[in-house]
Amino acid sequence: MTQRITLKDYLNQNAALLQEQGKDADALNTLMLGIADACVDIADLVRHGELAGVLGAAGQENVQGEEQKKLDIIANDVFIEKTQDTGQLAGIASEEMDHHYPIPDGVEKGKYLITVDPLDGSSNIDVNGATGTIFSVLPHMSEDAPTDADFLQSGEQQVLAGYCLFSSATMLVITFGNGVAGFTLDIEQGEFLLSHENMTVPKTTKEFSINAAYAAHWHAPVKRYIDECVQGEQGPRDANFNMRWAGSMVGDVHRILCRGGVFLYPSDERMQKAGKAGKLRLMYEANPMAWLMEQAGGLAHTGAQSILSVDPTELHQRVPVMMGSADEVERLIDYHTSAS
Ligand code: AHG
Ligand code: MN
Ligand code: MN
Repeated sequence: MTQRITLKDYLNQNAALLQEQGKDADALNTLMLGIADACVDIADLVRHGELAGVLGAAGQENVQGEEQKKLDIIANDVFIEKTQDTGQLAGIASEEMDHHYPIPDGVEKGKYLITVDPLDGSSNIDVNGATGTIFSVLPHMSEDAPTDADFLQSGEQQVLAGYCLFSSATMLVITFGNGVAGFTLDIEQGEFLLSHENMTVPKTTKEFSINAAYAAHWHAPVKRYIDECVQGEQGPRDANFNMRWAGSMVGDVHRILCRGGVFLYPSDERMQKAGKAGKLRLMYEANPMAWLMEQAGGLAHTGAQSILSVDPTELHQRVPVMMGSADEVERLIDYHTSAS
């Protein structure tokens, strides 16, 4: 087997660059290792599936009215425990908690906030499909204990973001704002090893990703874009397209970071009527994935503005999402602009 560098070695090598950017490399690296520890533990539970007794519904709903799976709650607890122990956090906000979790008295506190989707794609859990953990780290600007409002910073303020994909292999994909690096978990060693240096999204693609079951509700620009792709060589794109839908954003984004593509979870007429701006959540799904995409040379947009520029007003705010290969996202932006 090739000798690969460990996550720890990578972080040490990256430290000088972070310091040059005025970031506290020691603190961020300690936090990153805590996040990686949490991911190893969650991956272990996911891998054992039914044998670990973690499958099935928890019998309760989260703040967004979605049914929680047992593993949603367990992953949330594991993530909190492992990351708060790093001493680098002031608070944790999660898909699975109405309000942020303040680091309790007696636990060392730090100067960062973290937002997390502890288990993305949780409907895949019971069918052994791809899932993941998505995280985004923001600075905590004050000396005081954080409030929910302190988390409401745009994606441009992120200092570290990434995801861990639980699939045929467990992979950690991260950015500190200087490119995207991917690590594969060596289960025997319990270590993440650098396997995907400098991940880049090809500018062009012929692959799209959308839940086509909602086609009847799509707004005109999305309808136009997908219709043209589906017409293939006979249509205005003069090319045949392929379609993939993993059912977990982590799975779809990972594929795009590996080989290109475009991922859409747009707003639609049905959502609009229900007063929702989209399905995916800005703070712990759209923002971290948008930053990874842009760091890998892709684009991420709502149709009206870049995702990273959205000023959040709520912890669990939803946004329309279009991200991936630059040429296709630019085309989608164009269709949205000309329709408005
Ligand atoms: P979560 O399991 O964290 O609630 O997220 C699920 C999200 C996202 O991962 C995925 O892309 C999308 O929901 C799938 O939605 P549909 O079931 O509407 O296809
Ligand atoms: Mn999710
Ligand atoms: Mn989730």
